[in-house]
Amino acid sequence: MRIVVPKEHAPGERRVAMSPSAISRLASDEMQFVVESGAGLAASHSDEEYREVGAEIVADPKQLFDGADVVVKVNGPVKRDDGTDEVELIPSGALLIGQLQPHANAETLERLAERGVTSFSMELMPRTTLAQRMDSLSAFSTVAGYNAVLRGAAASSKFFPMLTTAAGTIAPANVFIIGAGVAGLQAIATARRLGAVVEAFDIRPAAKEQVQSLGASFVEWQGSEDTETEGGYAKEVSEEEQEHERQLLAEHIAKSDVVITTALVPGRKAPVLITADMVEGMRPGSVIVDLAAPAGGNCELTEPGETVVRNGVLVMGPQDLAAAVPLHGSQMYGKVLSNLLNYLVDDEGQLVIDLENDITGACVVTHDGTVRYES
Ligand SMILES: NC(=O)c1ccc[n+]([C@@H]2O[C@H](COP(=O)([O-])OP(=O)(O)OC[C@H]3O[C@@H](n4cnc5c(N)ncnc54)[C@H](O)[C@@H]3O)[C@@H](O)[C@H]2O)c1
Repeated sequence: MRIVVPKEHAPGERRVAMSPSAISRLASDEMQFVVESGAGLAASHSDEEYREVGAEIVADPKQLFDGADVVVKVNGPVKRDDGTDEVELIPSGALLIGQLQPHANAETLERLAERGVTSFSMELMPRTTLAQRMDSLSAFSTVAGYNAVLRGAAASSKFFPMLTTAAGTIAPANVFIIGAGVAGLQAIATARRLGAVVEAFDIRPAAKEQVQSLGASFVEWQGSEDTETEGGYAKEVSEEEQEHERQLLAEHIAKSDVVITTALVPGRKAPVLITADMVEGMRPGSVIVDLAAPAGGNCELTEPGETVVRNGVLVMGPQDLAAAVPLHGSQMYGKVLSNLLNYLVDDEGQLVIDLENDITGACVVTHDGTVRYES
């Protein structure tokens, strides 16, 4: 089986789908890896490192994709810098695996289906215990939560830790994390490591213990107890309860130097938990980093991809947080992909696309000439 790892061509992308360590776990007579020259450079991996684990390095894109059985990517197919179109390069009958954002790429899915490519969208991975080791969203939420705190700290007008210096004692910063899922918990841990005093909130009661175990205090919620699905995910709260929540959060937001928001409900627009008035109630120089920006944002003022300044308060809506830390991000994604490839290959080393399988059935968005994805 020929598994191709192209260089990513999306603007600003520095990750690579498979790190040398992920390839070393799988490379064998049955699984041969072909890596585009320079694919790993921005994630700190040279061509030489890939050669050392048995990968073939190819520079010419046509030669690279030629004969591919599997193409593994971080993002979906794009137009390359030289004008070539990756959809046209992927051979008919091949399996494409990546974060394909199927909700936003209907035309690409149509074209992949027409070419007879089977496309596997990593974002659709069911969040079950079995699938956990193949869950790229959790891996990248970890990166995003960590990076959000670093961005907030860099933009803040204050130190995070308490400092005792000859020029006086400096009190630690107050950081408030809203939403304590994978990204929120990583944000709490990172802010604590930087020495801030951290508070956190989530509507799921189960989050309380996790927040406290990281050394943050939990803001108690007196609203509905029915906030969690059987699978452990948040349910959407009613508009009335959201208002109650905003009132609860307002005083904590007002005294915070940095607020990191991560509140999301799968498949829904992000709840608006911070109004313009609440931003105006914050001290100038304070910062909001809205991780929910790509889903509309948790702050009324958030502009996805922009930083808005209101009364001296910075409202940041970054959309590239998960793409930071490219070496470790690629390492985690590579591990997830190697687990997935192991899962999809049978004892005889053959790739099996079984649409009756819970994982394959959920993630395959094009197959046999048709688009299976329904938004
Ligand atoms: N494969 C798996 O089994 C798997 C994978 C990832 C996460 N999980 C679990 O799923 C849960 C959610 O994690 P996630 O990172 O995917 O979440 P997510 O990214 O979907 O959402 C982030 C957080 O926002 C919270 N939230 C939603 N609405 C809110 C509101 N109005 N106010 C405040 N907070 C709000 C959610 O409860 C969640 O904790 C956690 O318990 C996590 O451990 C399981």
